[in-house]
Amino acid sequence: PREYKIASMPGDGIGPEVIDAALDVLDAVAQYSGQFSLSFDNLPWGSEFYKATGTYLPSDGLETLKKYDAVLFGAVGAPDIPDPVSLWGLLLAMRGPLQQYANVRPVKCFSSIEPVSRHVRPKDIDWVFVRENSEGEYAGQGGRTHRGFDWEVATEVAIFTRHGIRRIMRFAFETAASRPRKLLTVVTKSNAQRYGLVLWDEIVEEVSKEFPDVKWDKMLVDAMTVRMVRNPQSLDTIVGTNLHIDILSDLAAALAGSVGIAASANIDPTRKSPSMFEPVHGSAFDITGKGIANPIGAIWSSAMMLEWLGEKESCTLVMNAIERACAECNTTRDLGGKLNTKQVTAAIISSIGK
Ligand code: NAD
Ligand code: IPM
Ligand code: MN
Repeated sequence: PREYKIASMPGDGIGPEVIDAALDVLDAVAQYSGQFSLSFDNLPWGSEFYKATGTYLPSDGLETLKKYDAVLFGAVGAPDIPDPVSLWGLLLAMRGPLQQYANVRPVKCFSSIEPVSRHVRPKDIDWVFVRENSEGEYAGQGGRTHRGFDWEVATEVAIFTRHGIRRIMRFAFETAASRPRKLLTVVTKSNAQRYGLVLWDEIVEEVSKEFPDVKWDKMLVDAMTVRMVRNPQSLDTIVGTNLHIDILSDLAAALAGSVGIAASANIDPTRKSPSMFEPVHGSAFDITGKGIANPIGAIWSSAMMLEWLGEKESCTLVMNAIERACAECNTTRDLGGKLNTKQVTAAIISSIGK
């Protein structure tokens, strides 16, 4: 059988609870399929590790990750550590340096889930967000001078490069072309952001010529929030900057039921580095340790990992099992159900292949 080495990094808060669930589902589907095997190494990097060692990512951490076929990540962030320390220490210290420049965030409203807006019918939401994952406000540029004085200045510099925009735009057009509707919406804010986002506008004109089959349109990000709520069925594949899609993908998750089901893949399309799969949600301090976190975001992310590894059939098995568990109302509280994390996971596992 085919063998894959996976780095499992549960991290903080509900991270370990949902990654446990994902590992159980992965084991179950590998066994069901019999076509491949997965081995998991647990990497303890997170806020406890930081408190013990003074670092989130060990100095050879990126090299260590390169030994794996993929990384499964939970969440990072702790109430007693400043967020920029934990996020730039671990998550953002991996996405950029590993050149996982495409962040893919699918959003679907499973038919059994009650949509939060009366404008939205479940079948209206079947979207894929393509988030530029290496530039913009996340390039790490900026600083503060004259700290504490009235004339203190802080900058948060957004970086956009022709190379970075062109590669994500091509990835987005390819994603759109691979889907039945072949429809791409490019999100910008080039009325106010007159340099970087105007460059986005120019590059989409160029790249679109390589993909004559894809219909595309442009939206300013503010108007896009309205379109997502009022006219969801008009959207399919959506591409935008790191920060814009961070925000829109949380809104999308809420429209589709809960941020607890939202999945993501941090992809290096060149396959030089391992790609990293993680739920969109964070460490959720408010429900940590209660055993009630929705595991679907993590389980769906692990299905995306199977697809990226080439195990398309097993990805479909997991997605169908999630859908079936939801249809039978085997859901956690965030989706209006009564089950805990373990019960939902068990329901999904017992639906595999049904
Ligand atoms: P969050 O996603 O952790 O929580 C937001 C709300 O959604 C909370 O009420 C939480 O209980 C709920 N929620 C989240 N996941 C859920 C799940 N699986 N099931 C049920 N309910 C769920 O966002 P936040 O509160 O803004 O951030 C908390 C911490 O996590 C911060 O330190 C933040 O920086 C960090 N964070 C990390 C990541 C990541 O590691 N990828 C992502 C977002 C936030
Ligand atoms: C996400 C998160 C992260 C981001 C934070 C925690 C740095 O919100 O993955 O969506 O902004 O990318
Ligand atoms: Mn986010």
